[in-house]
Amino acid sequence: METTTAEHIIWQEQDLIRNEFPILKQTVNGRPLVYLDNGATTQKPVSVIRSMQEYYTMYNSNVHRGVHTLSQQATAAYEAARHQVAAFIGAHHHEVVFTKGTTDAINLVANGFRKDILKEGDEVIISAMEHHSNIVPWQLACEEKNAKLKVIPITDKGELEMDVFRSMLNPRVKLVSVAWVSNTMGTVNPVKEIIELAHEQGIPVMLDAAQAAAHIPIRVHELDVDFLALSGHKLFGPTGIGILYGKESWLDKLPPYQGGGDMIKHVTFEKTTYSEPPLKFEAGTPAICEAIGLGAAVAWASKLGIHRIGAYEHQLTEYAIAQLKAIPGLRFIGEAEHRSGAISFLVGDTHPSDVGVLLDQQGIAVRTGHHCTQPLCDRFGIPGTVRASLAVYNNTEDIDRLVEGVHKAVTLLG
Ligand code: ALA
Repeated sequence: METTTAEHIIWQEQDLIRNEFPILKQTVNGRPLVYLDNGATTQKPVSVIRSMQEYYTMYNSNVHRGVHTLSQQATAAYEAARHQVAAFIGAHHHEVVFTKGTTDAINLVANGFRKDILKEGDEVIISAMEHHSNIVPWQLACEEKNAKLKVIPITDKGELEMDVFRSMLNPRVKLVSVAWVSNTMGTVNPVKEIIELAHEQGIPVMLDAAQAAAHIPIRVHELDVDFLALSGHKLFGPTGIGILYGKESWLDKLPPYQGGGDMIKHVTFEKTTYSEPPLKFEAGTPAICEAIGLGAAVAWASKLGIHRIGAYEHQLTEYAIAQLKAIPGLRFIGEAEHRSGAISFLVGDTHPSDVGVLLDQQGIAVRTGHHCTQPLCDRFGIPGTVRASLAVYNNTEDIDRLVEGVHKAVTLLG
């Protein structure tokens, strides 16, 4: 393939990068594994696995609670991970709250808005391409407060209708919460423009960056975004950990999400005072090992460079689209101009899950179904899609195997 200088380096490094992921070396159903379900979760490099093993082997202990050496080591590593994630997204460390993942982070903010901000008649804006985790928390909050959930429509190509969005902004809107990248269609939304338009009217913006973090550089201060959520496991890190970024003023304003240890300053039976953010939002023993694993994951991704990863994946996505397009009867769901490597398609009358099962029999992992975006599937009048989603360790051979696999599946389903 033709490559330009910046990307060329990753094409040359490909074997080395892939080598760092032990799971990719196996065969599945008698064929070398082709892992194309990175939108669901990414695989983990050795450095992440090792960091977590080291924690449990050498210094497993609770954080912020002990004067003993192991507890201090664990606390230092946990807080170092917070600094690493903060640097990765261009934030201050005290603006980074560890959560269970993106869903948990969105629920944290939705809970705060439900309790202290939303009033009857207010509005929250989301979009037609949201994951259920950026729909249901707002639905719950709006239902309770008699507020309205408004939805930015999308075009047939899977892009936001920005003119409609502009017309939806008004003083009743208390928050805009949208995906940076669609998990189903790969659409990359114009988040800078969304934030600027909303801010012109004094409306805060939350970004669901779950599908962006492993592919697009994130600079929260430059974006001036108010809240941003991401998951560790979609970023080469472990499950059970993610972050909420919140502007300091917002984290001060929002009420605690859960009560318990670590989030308190002082407790009496009459009244409790709370820790400063981010600890105000981290009740109970946190996912210490997972946070340390996430720190190692962002260190791994930063060393490679998210810009370079994005440029490499852009070329691989173009290659994949060109190859898939040649399959008779194949149609893409989502053909946005700005897109990432989550590629959804349907072939003829075949059911996505039948295609998925036949691909698995050939050692190829994709996701099929509605991808937790049922309203989006309804918008297109489809039950779901076959989705291949790329990561930096994928290569053209993976794509060739996918194309060959889809051909075979379609022939078998005849
Ligand atoms: N949100 C994840 C996906 O899109 C699970 O597959």
